[in-house]
Amino acid sequence: MSQKYHIITYGCQMNLHESEKMAGILRHMGYEECSSTQEADVIVFNTCCIRENAENHAFGNIGALKKLKKEKPGLIIAVGGCMTQEKGKTDVLKKKFPFIDVMFGTLNLEDLETLINRKRNQKKKVIEVLEKEREIIEFTDAYRTSYPNAWVNIMYGCNNFCSYCIVPYVRGRERSRKAEDIITEVRSLIEEGYKEITLLGQNVNSYNSDGKGGMTFAELLDAVASIDGKFRVRFMTSHPKDFNEDVVKVMEKHRKICRLVHLPVQSGSDRILQAMNRRYTSGKYLAEVEMLRKRIPEAELTTDIIVGFPGETEEDYLATEALVKQVDFASAFTFVYSPRQGTKAAEMADRIPEEIQKDRIMRLVELVNSLTRKKSEKYVGKTVEILCEGYDEKKGMYLGRDEFGRMGYFESESDALGEFVTLKIVRANGISLYGERVDVPIKED
Ligand code: SAH
Ligand code: SF4
Ligand code: F3S
Repeated sequence: MSQKYHIITYGCQMNLHESEKMAGILRHMGYEECSSTQEADVIVFNTCCIRENAENHAFGNIGALKKLKKEKPGLIIAVGGCMTQEKGKTDVLKKKFPFIDVMFGTLNLEDLETLINRKRNQKKKVIEVLEKEREIIEFTDAYRTSYPNAWVNIMYGCNNFCSYCIVPYVRGRERSRKAEDIITEVRSLIEEGYKEITLLGQNVNSYNSDGKGGMTFAELLDAVASIDGKFRVRFMTSHPKDFNEDVVKVMEKHRKICRLVHLPVQSGSDRILQAMNRRYTSGKYLAEVEMLRKRIPEAELTTDIIVGFPGETEEDYLATEALVKQVDFASAFTFVYSPRQGTKAAEMADRIPEEIQKDRIMRLVELVNSLTRKKSEKYVGKTVEILCEGYDEKKGMYLGRDEFGRMGYFESESDALGEFVTLKIVRANGISLYGERVDVPIKED
């Protein structure tokens, strides 16, 4: 009987895709996927450390395996991702969870096979976390789990050192993949039937900052969207300090590129933006939004916002609310500031008390939800194209997103997964839309 693996992923799209790469490695080794830790022979935790609660989440789930490991000594428990890459974290993990067998970081995930094999041949645990990034290893065997979407890394790492953020410390400096490798990968994904390509980087606009890509992000986006076939192109994340008109011109040129830009603003207060080391002002941000909407009036924006950053006054917070209203975001990810050891902001005085943070996040969430609801209501009666990405068992309906990332539910007699479906929206509920298929479903025998 073949051995089985189970991967548990925390964090962002980058990590989701890296878990697909880990799955590719494990399958190559002969392991098969299983859906629970109980059945698995190898369990991999792909961790995140962006905020304290992401770490606590992983700690809780790793800790819960103590009993299973006792009952099943042959089980291999491996921990990788951003948390293990944090300075000193492997020691913490070793102490807290002595039953972990393998630890590796974000910079050497390609070594997973070697590390697991080494563990199989020795009693001692295997810990290998690189200090410095190495040359990009091209990887073609990811076992993708997000059909019809495919994630494609265009670059790794981050050079920005926003003062609150741990990412530059756990992902290394920016490294760009060669444009030709990216284009070849996208071409083969389209040939395999993927319908949506999401280009990934911490700051896609600084693609090629190391000169290794061979072209700018705008040129790369143009090249990817020029590939034949019906598919959508998304990209994330854009950084307001580098977002530019060249990219918007390419969006204008290609209908394949979704009219949605994820442009994290973090705060509406210039004082706080400066303390965050974001290197733009709210004025520059608003000018970019205006530039985008001038060229593509229907374009929507989503964003990330942090409240309760050290020193944030009520006035600063209200500046964020004002900016949110002015931009009229389609949706926003909102976070309470979480100090990360080793970052500049963690050393800053004037921490904001928890009750004030809570109060601000609640007010902000309410504001964002009200904008989202208003936009949803406007959808009713409209016809939209949805790319079907799954089936919701509870609702008994298929679901998918339109090009603005809005979730739409619908009933369908035929299996609609991976199809572009035209829906007439009949009802909106919060962020979700409900529609009826108005395209003619092709019945298959
Ligand atoms: N590279 C992307 C975002 C990566 S992290 C960018 O620059 O936009 C995703 C989001 O997590 C960030 O945009 C930020 O809003 C949030 N975040 C990062 N560090 C955080 C911290 N210490 N506390 C709270 N939120 C944080
Ligand atoms: Fe973090 Fe800033 Fe880099 Fe984004 S750009 S990953 S927020 S340091
Ligand atoms: Fe992503 Fe979390 Fe790492 S957000 S880059 S998995 S710290």
